[in-house]
Amino acid sequence: MSNKKNQVIVVSGASWGDEGKGKAVDFLSSKADIVVRFQGGNNAGHTVIVEGKKYKFHLIPSGVIQNKTIVIGNGVVIDPEVLFKEIEMLESEGFHPDLKVADTAHVIFPFHKLLDGLEEESKGKYAAGTTKRGIGPTYSDKASRYGIRVFDILNEKIFRPKFERLYELKLKMYKVLTDTHKAWEFNKEEIFNQYIEFGKRLKPYVIQTAYYLNKAIDEEKYVLFEGAQGALLGIDHGMYPYGTSSITWAGGVPGGAGVGPTRIDYVLGVIKAYTSRVGTGPVPTELDGDLAHQIREQGHEYGTTTGRPRRVGWIDLFNLKYTCMLNNYDGLTLTLLDALAGVETLKICTGYRLNGELLDSWPIHSELIEECVPEYIDMPGWAPKSAEEWTKIAEQGYGALPTEMKNYIQKIEEILGRKIVIISIGPDRKDTIIREEIW
Ligand code: IMP
Repeated sequence: MSNKKNQVIVVSGASWGDEGKGKAVDFLSSKADIVVRFQGGNNAGHTVIVEGKKYKFHLIPSGVIQNKTIVIGNGVVIDPEVLFKEIEMLESEGFHPDLKVADTAHVIFPFHKLLDGLEEESKGKYAAGTTKRGIGPTYSDKASRYGIRVFDILNEKIFRPKFERLYELKLKMYKVLTDTHKAWEFNKEEIFNQYIEFGKRLKPYVIQTAYYLNKAIDEEKYVLFEGAQGALLGIDHGMYPYGTSSITWAGGVPGGAGVGPTRIDYVLGVIKAYTSRVGTGPVPTELDGDLAHQIREQGHEYGTTTGRPRRVGWIDLFNLKYTCMLNNYDGLTLTLLDALAGVETLKICTGYRLNGELLDSWPIHSELIEECVPEYIDMPGWAPKSAEEWTKIAEQGYGALPTEMKNYIQKIEEILGRKIVIISIGPDRKDTIIREEIW
């Protein structure tokens, strides 16, 4: 019997993504043997800052800069071009990723990216404001069962008929969706040959990752599952259709990695001290004007993937209560508290009213959420500090935090009924306070 506290941990975003998961994953990776992505693709953007140096990842698990074994599970959609760019970037920085890629992960093609944009245009007000990385169209093909998997591009004979069928289908779809203002600039043979080359480069990394991970767990290795996006963007439980195409909560692990739910020991939810959102759909606590600008600048709220300015708002504990219920988080990480510094009075959303009635469940449907009026409580804010001062406070620990910040943290814990075990007060790895060891 293992004497480890927890052996298999999932880190997942509790709201609209961009909660600071990359940092939490990087932090926890120091003890992990294996770090795994199980959903999404290069629509994700994880930033990790170590000693002032910024690393940005879209596809490769952020655990890579701790030199851990990294796994891209079957639930991920892979753009091979992006994957190789990230590998090259890492190698140029002196990292040698020990990478395993699922043979059953689906592959993104250039026409998926074009169709992503065209499909969005055709959706009018239902457009999600996608990252245009081809994520939705690739997952659609997977569900329709004419998608192409990593295994397929390793073998010309297997790949050829599947590719022909997919290419022709996509060309037909393009003709339906376009008024020809965006040219179909793809050459079938060129793409075929390019992906055969990708297949040759991918081959050394490709394995049956479900076998690999289950064996590793049997051997008592520490495994960390790194979520991308956030629970409210999920295809089933998020705000459809204004989300992404994968299962973004911790429940995505079994399907996206082939590791049974009873293998998971601990689920860590990542929440931000305020709300941020890229893309469309109602955000009841959204701010505008000077205050929004201040928080956006202090929190560097610009998309890692697209560079888009993120929408910001007050923390919404009503939707977080919902994602706490879904994930049944064992603990929370609270990030970006420093970014709220200097805001005199902070508001915490505790519930919504619809037609004057206080709701007891988060309404999920955008049409209902649009009509909701948030209920707030006010909390006093804390004074601005320099980056060095925040780092010093982090070194001293929880007791050194400003009293107003501790009150804010306690209020969140009280309302959500979960403990905040990790607190982040700055972008660097060292600006982190651990209140409870979870490995
Ligand atoms: P897609 O995942 O590119 O299809 O985009 C669908 C929706 O999810 C859009 O609103 C995106 O802005 C949002 N989204 C996708 N990935 C992320 C992420 O990593 N962080 C935050 N939002 C994301």
